[in-house]
Amino acid sequence: MKNLIKTTLLLSMFFGVNSLSAMDLSNADTANGAQVWADTCMRCHNLRPPEDLSKRAWEYSMNHMRIRAGLTGQETRDVLAFILESKTTNDAH
Ligand code: HEC
Repeated sequence: MKNLIKTTLLLSMFFGVNSLSAMDLSNADTANGAQVWADTCMRCHNLRPPEDLSKRAWEYSMNHMRIRAGLTGQETRDVLAFILESKTTNDAH
C-alpha cells in the first residue's frame, strides 16, 4: 500500500502535476510572441481574443496549438506570455 502511494505520487509528479503547473514565462519575449501570434495563429482560423479563454485554458490550448502550428518551445512561451499579458479580465485560473 505504501509503495502504491509512493508510485502514484511519483507518477503524478512526472505526468499529472507537471503538465498542469504553470509554464515558466520568465524568459518569454512578448514582442516576439505578438509577431508569431499575428503571423501564424490565423493561418487556420480567426484569432481568438485573449478574453475567450481562462489563463489555464490558454496554457492548455497553447500546448495543443504548438503542435498544430509547429512552434518551438520558446515561441510557444512567447505567444502565451503575449496573450496572458493582453488579458484584461483577472480570472483565477
Ligand atoms: C495548422 C493549423 C492551426 C494553426 C497554425 C493554429 N491553430 Fe488553433 N486550432 C486549429 C484547429 C484545427 C482547431 C480546432 C480544435 C482541434 O484541434 O480539433 C484549433 C483550435 C484553437 C483554439 C480552441 C481551443 C483548442 O485548443 O482547441 C484556440 C484557442 C486556438 N486554436 C488558438 C490558436 C493560437 C493562439 C494559435 C497560434 C499559436 C493557433 N491556434 C494556431 C488549427 C490551428
